Amino acid sequence: VGKLVFIGFMGSGKTTAAAGAAAKLGGNRAADSDTLIESRLGRSIAEVFRQDGEAAFRTHEEALVLELLGAQDGPGVISLGGGAVGSAAVRRALADGSHRVVWMDVDSDTAWRRARGPTRPLARDRGSFEELHARREPLYVQLADVVVPASRSREIAPVLDALDELPRGGAKLLWAASASRDYPAYIGSGLLTGEPFWPETVPGRRFLVADARAARLYGELLEPVAGRVSIMPGEQSKTVAHAEIVWTELVRHGATRRDIVVALGGGVAGDLAGFCAATYQRGMRYVQVPTTLTAQVDSAYGGKTGVDLAEAKNYVGAFHQPSAVIADTATLASLPPEELAAGYAEVVKTALIAGGELWERVRAGAEPDDPEVITLCALTKLRVVEQDERDSGLRQVLNLGHTVGHAIETVTGYARYRHGEAVALGLLAALRLSGAGELRAEVRELLAARGLAVATDGLDTDAVIFATARDKKRVGEGPVPFVLLERPGAPRPGCTVKPGELRAAVRELAAR
Ligand SMILES: NC(=O)c1ccc[n+]([C@@H]2O[C@H](COP(=O)([O-])OP(=O)(O)OC[C@H]3O[C@@H](n4cnc5c(N)ncnc54)[C@H](O)[C@@H]3O)[C@@H](O)[C@H]2O)c1
Repeated sequence: VGKLVFIGFMGSGKTTAAAGAAAKLGGNRAADSDTLIESRLGRSIAEVFRQDGEAAFRTHEEALVLELLGAQDGPGVISLGGGAVGSAAVRRALADGSHRVVWMDVDSDTAWRRARGPTRPLARDRGSFEELHARREPLYVQLADVVVPASRSREIAPVLDALDELPRGGAKLLWAASASRDYPAYIGSGLLTGEPFWPETVPGRRFLVADARAARLYGELLEPVAGRVSIMPGEQSKTVAHAEIVWTELVRHGATRRDIVVALGGGVAGDLAGFCAATYQRGMRYVQVPTTLTAQVDSAYGGKTGVDLAEAKNYVGAFHQPSAVIADTATLASLPPEELAAGYAEVVKTALIAGGELWERVRAGAEPDDPEVITLCALTKLRVVEQDERDSGLRQVLNLGHTVGHAIETVTGYARYRHGEAVALGLLAALRLSGAGELRAEVRELLAARGLAVATDGLDTDAVIFATARDKKRVGEGPVPFVLLERPGAPRPGCTVKPGELRAAVRELAAR
């Protein structure tokens, strides 16, 4: 009998979320493995650790968890102690396809604040606590059907509705939390190209706004649609003039505020369609259906929508979160190799910001379209957006490499480089500015190995430097704030760089 199983680190709110889930499902109370062990042994966990040692505790824990998971009846909702997933037998049982696993995702600072103290034997020393947090994360990621931010432990009902929709067979659901709206992001191979999927939690008439190529390849899988607009592939379609075409087509098709725009394609279609949804009749819902690597790892999440001006990139737009994201990683199979490579630059950027497991996988040569890598990238972005939806500080870290990257795109008329190709160059500049020579060399190799240019001819370096001054992060007459990197996992927003250093970093890109 399938159970709903909550996993996660100490202080992640598993018990609270499990209680909420049990209340919603209306059955028995949730079972909590730690509480059950304490009552069976008649001692606190701290005492068991002290008297018998951790290994003995784990043996009890494993037996009890396997019993709970295998029980024909008994509680349908179970919350597991943070370390229970350390047992291979428990992991096998969780992954057997019958259960639904909910990972409550907590960052290590919050976990430490909540869990530290004498009652938890593994929360006494900060250093080993953080190490344990990092070590367990890959296990949680691997087992989770759905990832839920710890901040939503008291609001689990909508997550469970979205989870009900998740097809079985390996796709994952990330619960995207932000100040303005929460939404489900479904990521997995075959979500459209298999049995076409649409979340019933997003009802309404669908109006497809699509990149023409993506529409031809995948448009039918989103039927029924009440109207469709195709836009020419390419960054040059991300303009106010194209937005007007989309608005006009929406009117002609009779779209109303109750309807849904379905944005199908890469970042260009997503940014443009999202912007049109944000502004049409002052705002309608939209669903992102990303079909490029850039869009699946980055642009489909977080609600930044907009268009370019000839003078500067992404200069007009709106924050507008989607109502859902459906990312079928199998659609990447039709992507031309250069587009996959361009998206890889955003993968590397995200891995540098995240550090930890994601960076280790990327530097070890993970395939860019590996669904697990895509999921980890999306998770990294969503964690940042949850804390700073409107780009008032932390979110700027997502722009690592983008100040120079955007400048390169602008001065070359959005025609010479793909966005990701410009970001690859921008990343190298940012690493030079960070004084991270060795890391720059490593990243340069990673990018080059995927066919990205790591140096470029004929770039007007003065124009690029001039264009960085238009970066949107700049406030008033102040200096352009750069995102620099202390080490993978430790980005620093809001840094000032000296003009001479910027010049050297940009010139280095022009050197073969
Ligand atoms: N909103 C954000 O947070 C955010 C984040 C990162 C990037 N972006 C934006 O994203 C844009 C770049 O996105 P992109 O790299 O996806 O480019 P894109 O949207 O131009 O798509 C690239 C190409 O791939 C084709 N294509 C799309 N899906 C395909 C598929 N499955 N098979 C075959 N061909 C396919 C398209 O026709 C197009 O020619 C930039 O404008 C950038 O500013 C936005």
